[in-house]
Amino acid sequence: MRIKELLALEGKGQHITVEGWVRTKRDSRDVSFVALNDGSCIDNMQVVLPKSFPLFDDIEPRLSNGASVTVRGRLVKSQGTGQSVEVLPDEITVQGEANPAEYPLQKKRHSFEFLREIAHLRPRTNTFGAVARIRSAMSYAIHSYFNERGFVYVHTPVITGSDCEGAGEMFRVTTFPLDKIPVTKDGVDFSRDFFGKEASLTVSGQLEAEIYALALKNVYTFGPTFRAENSNTSRHLAEFWMVEPEMAFCDISLNMDTAEEFIKYILKYVLTNCRLDMEFFSTMIEKGVVENLEHITESSFERITYTEAVNELKKSGKNFDYPVEWGMDLQSEHEKFITQEIFRKPVIVTDYPRDIKAFYMKQNDDGRTVRAMDVLVPRLGEIIGGSERENDHGRLLSRIREMGLDEKNYWWYLELRKYGSVPHSGFGLGFERLIQFVTGMQNIRDVIPFPRCVGTLDF
Ligand code: 4AD
Ligand code: MG
Repeated sequence: MRIKELLALEGKGQHITVEGWVRTKRDSRDVSFVALNDGSCIDNMQVVLPKSFPLFDDIEPRLSNGASVTVRGRLVKSQGTGQSVEVLPDEITVQGEANPAEYPLQKKRHSFEFLREIAHLRPRTNTFGAVARIRSAMSYAIHSYFNERGFVYVHTPVITGSDCEGAGEMFRVTTFPLDKIPVTKDGVDFSRDFFGKEASLTVSGQLEAEIYALALKNVYTFGPTFRAENSNTSRHLAEFWMVEPEMAFCDISLNMDTAEEFIKYILKYVLTNCRLDMEFFSTMIEKGVVENLEHITESSFERITYTEAVNELKKSGKNFDYPVEWGMDLQSEHEKFITQEIFRKPVIVTDYPRDIKAFYMKQNDDGRTVRAMDVLVPRLGEIIGGSERENDHGRLLSRIREMGLDEKNYWWYLELRKYGSVPHSGFGLGFERLIQFVTGMQNIRDVIPFPRCVGTLDF
């Protein structure tokens, strides 16, 4: 049994085995209290080791922070406060010691910056254990949400020949020797590379998801995506996970309904199923985060157009680092202001200027906006970007040309608009940003086990 299950039992003196790593050890006159954690929950199991225990002087010093231990003993009602049960050991096996002079996790609270440097040990802290469990539970909730609604999970490729966002922020994939790249007078000779053409890591599975949506109606992807953005912020990673549903026979308004329902579903799931960890975040990381999330599940998201958002921002009279004018992309300071100050809840902004959005978004009849939808939340700003897709072949082709993209790379995407084209929509949720939102963790590097960011690749 794991500690989580043992802690739920009544201590009746039953024989049990508990395995874990020492979190703390506290000595009193006659006994040592050793707290074991096995990652099953945030709480520890207390082992009460009396000085009369056989070979106490040999065993006790080896039960230092970080040591791995198997304890056989009896589960009893705890004499102390803070736990309902504890273990009286009959037999203790130290599986692996952790030299106290060297083990880095000694202090009760280390800075997150320091813990990032020891990503091999940080899951043994309360915070990172809780983040790992929440992340896992949220992944499960995502699959449940779509599975319950008949969406097909499609695995889109990691290596790709097309740039989904058309923003040129892609990592190259090549087997060329870097000191001897074949060139012709026209530039690099990709015909001699592994795939015979230029290849990159995907920035989004959307374009491939559209292929499957136009056959299976409702699909989603959930996998790693990569962006060579030079953004050294608390909400950007070079490798992050994205959830991307894509729905045929679906317009932007149904797309927004889905995004809102989807987020609320995940919030409810963690509030119901991860109670202990969420209480930890709500007291130790972001005061009141549980109440905030509860409130969000019970109220509806605000919906406004980009033009309205710009007007609201201007009206506010606030001095932004980037002054607001129609046509500019909303910066994170604007997004935060809209959700935190103006509406105090999640906001879906629609109908952005076409010139700041990707080529695939459906153009509105006004000729200057597209059917985009971004979901913004307090503290973080954008966590979802989505749109209705351009399903008209002619308009899509002219947009691809206008934006200087190579239409040869999108021939199949264009063909989908020739054969059985239909209104369809989808969105991409930044998984780590949602985890930040749920846990209150400030830095995106602390909600993914091994962060990859510009200038850092430690593990
Ligand atoms: O808004 P984005 O760029 O949208 C797309 O990629 C679309 N193809 C999605 C779709 O319609 N299927 O990215 C979607 C979300 C953002 O809202 C953000 O939450 C997250 O992905 N994101 C990042 N998260 C962490 N680090 C980065 N560098 C991110 N870039 C985007
Ligand atoms: Mg976006």
